[in-house]
Amino acid sequence: MRKSKLLIIDDDEDLRTQMKWALTADYNIYLAEDRQSAIAIINKEQPAVVTLDLGLPPNPAGVEEGFTVLDHILDGYNNTKVIIITGRAEKEHALRAVEKGAYDFFYKPIELDELKVVLRRAFHVFQLEQEQRELRHRLSGDTFEDMIGTSPKMQDVFSTIRKVATTDAPVLITGESGTGKELVARAIHKLSIRRSKPFIPINCGAIPENLIESELFGHEKGTFTGAHAQRKGRFEMAEGGTLFLDEIGDLPLTLQVKLLRFLQEKTIERVGGREQIEVDTRVLAATNRDLEEAMKNATFRGDLYYRLNVVKISLPALRERNADVVLLAKTFLDRYTGEIRKKIKGFSSQAIESIVRYSWPGNVRELENRIKRAVIMSEGKKITPEDLEIESTAGGKECLVLKDAREILEKDLILKAIARNENNLTKAASDLGISRPTLYDLMEKLGIPTK
Ligand SMILES: Nc1ncnc2c1ncn2[C@@H]1O[C@H](COP(=O)(O)OP(=O)(O)OP(=O)(O)O)[C@@H](O)[C@H]1O
Ligand SMILES: [Mg+2]
Repeated sequence: MRKSKLLIIDDDEDLRTQMKWALTADYNIYLAEDRQSAIAIINKEQPAVVTLDLGLPPNPAGVEEGFTVLDHILDGYNNTKVIIITGRAEKEHALRAVEKGAYDFFYKPIELDELKVVLRRAFHVFQLEQEQRELRHRLSGDTFEDMIGTSPKMQDVFSTIRKVATTDAPVLITGESGTGKELVARAIHKLSIRRSKPFIPINCGAIPENLIESELFGHEKGTFTGAHAQRKGRFEMAEGGTLFLDEIGDLPLTLQVKLLRFLQEKTIERVGGREQIEVDTRVLAATNRDLEEAMKNATFRGDLYYRLNVVKISLPALRERNADVVLLAKTFLDRYTGEIRKKIKGFSSQAIESIVRYSWPGNVRELENRIKRAVIMSEGKKITPEDLEIESTAGGKECLVLKDAREILEKDLILKAIARNENNLTKAASDLGISRPTLYDLMEKLGIPTK
């Protein structure tokens, strides 16, 4: 078995040697005598456990150097267990270190047998946590066919997708721009028995009105200038598979009639053709427009709407998925630091705060784009709100009424607690030091969705 990594940071050479000698049978040991060498090893080896002497050169009598190392570990490697090695006279510093997040402390002079026990326990805890992280990751159901979502609303979406995938019913996918409508359509196709046949998307809003009919239904040779040959439309290209009509709200009324006929009779007619051609294609449609409104304005046919709306999947706006925002942000950060090959360690806590607080009008697409840009632009180890170009903290309005200020603060703290606890309201309430019913009441008062 590979031995776990232990880093010993101490400026006392004798002590380092003695510890190394005593522990080398159990652990893979690294030694550092000052802050620089310690940080270099931490970055390179990411040890499971670190013993840290707070007093390091150039100021062995102070504790700043040691605390800097501790901060570095807590910031970037917070799974690592840090054991502070300290003199009895410096107990206060040790306690402060534990308060900050160090795992434990141990008094000098070192009793090796005792230290061994403490170390064994630290490694054990590290390992348990590691296993738990892996298990959680495996079981999490955080991702579903390329989609990330732990929020209850997205879990509902996933369960609907699973149910409709096995049918041939048309599905209407609605949601603001950038909420993932196309991803949902692709997921439905991938989970259906049509998966080995084509998935053909067409954006009804992007094709000029005079071309879209032949794009969709195809045309016969010589029907119009330029129609040199017979051509199949997207319906026929999607034979056996799925046709995804994006921006269906932009489909001209005349074509709405043709689409309705297809949905009723499963046949189409090419432009300039007389023949009814049978096609076996499933239709999925998406829109970010309010089709009921369009129906009232007579720009969308009611009969078509009801045909398409047999199953409806409404994607929540990103601001309604508190549990997902940070998870999505981290996923995109990993993706783009990998692609762009930058050594970025994560988000600063202010960046996380601004991500949670921002309203994301462009939804997941905006989040993805902002993070990609931040990774390209960032010059530091952590992404900051400035990199994301999101206004940090409340700022701006300075003459808030006290009551408004309190509500903003309360809402902010609650949203963050909920996000931090992945939508677990019981845990969020306990974080906030209030009971669960009180949290519910507050959420209702502040207009935070409770589901
Ligand atoms: N739940 C999610 N998990 C991971 N990535 C997502 C998720 N939802 C959306 N995305 C990503 O966000 C971007 C936008 O998604 P998509 O194109 O499906 O949105 P849309 O609703 O069709 O947007 P529009 O209305 O502007 O066409 C894509 O890059 C997609 O991969
Ligand atoms: Mg789209």
